[in-house]
Amino acid sequence: MADLNIAVICGSLRKESWNRMVANTLPSVAPGLKFKDAPPFDKMPNYNQDDQKANGFPDSVKAWADAIRGADGVVFVTPEYNFSVPGVLKNAIDWVSRMDAKEQPFFGRPCAILTASGGPVGGSRVQYELRKILQSIEGIVLPKPEVFVTLAPTKIDTTKGVVTDATTLDFMKKQMEAFAAFIQRLS
Ligand SMILES: Cc1cc2nc3c(=O)[nH]c(=O)nc-3n(C[C@H](O)[C@H](O)[C@H](O)COP(=O)(O)O)c2cc1C
Repeated sequence: MADLNIAVICGSLRKESWNRMVANTLPSVAPGLKFKDAPPFDKMPNYNQDDQKANGFPDSVKAWADAIRGADGVVFVTPEYNFSVPGVLKNAIDWVSRMDAKEQPFFGRPCAILTASGGPVGGSRVQYELRKILQSIEGIVLPKPEVFVTLAPTKIDTTKGVVTDATTLDFMKKQMEAFAAFIQRLS
C-alpha cells in the first residue's frame, strides 16, 4: 500500500466513542498509510456569516483546513445523529466551505467514510448525508467498498479500544486498499 498521508476526522467527541475506536484501528489494517488526526473542531464557534465577514476565519478553522489541505486524503469516521451528520462536524465543514476555491480544503480531495453505530444499519444514512455535503464542496468520495460497523459493541473490544471482529477488519482493509488506489488514480 502506498505511503500516503491521511487526515482522520472522527465525528464523535465522546471519550468512549466507538467511532474513535474504529479510527484507532485503521493503522493496523493499512500499515502503508500514515494516519494523523485532524486538529479538534469542537471549539470552533457556531458559524455566523456576520462574524466571518467581521473577523475572518478563526485559528481553529484555519488549523483544521491546513491539516486537510496537507493530506493526500481524508477519512471520516462518524456516528449518525438523527439520521444525519453530527452538528459539530457539520459546523466545521460549513466554516471551511466558505474559504476561497483555492483554499477550500475539500476541493478535489479524496475522502473515504466509515460509520459505526449500535444499531443494525451501522450509520448507513449518515454516509449518504455526508456524501451529499462533500459533493457540494467538491470533495471526491470513494464510491466503494462502503464500511458500516453495525451493532458496534459486538465488533469492538471496548477495553482495548479497537475493532476485533475479523469480518469488519477485512472490510476495513479492503476499503483502505481501494482508497489508496483511488488517491493514486486521482493524483
Ligand atoms: C444525538 C444523537 C442522535 C443519534 N441518532 C442516531 C441515529 O440517527 N442513528 C443511529 O444509528 N444511532 C443514533 N444515535 C446513537 C449513536 O449511534 C450512538 O450513540 C453511538 O454510540 C454514537 O457513536 P460514538 O460511540 O462514536 O459516540 C444517536 C445518538 C445521539 C447522541
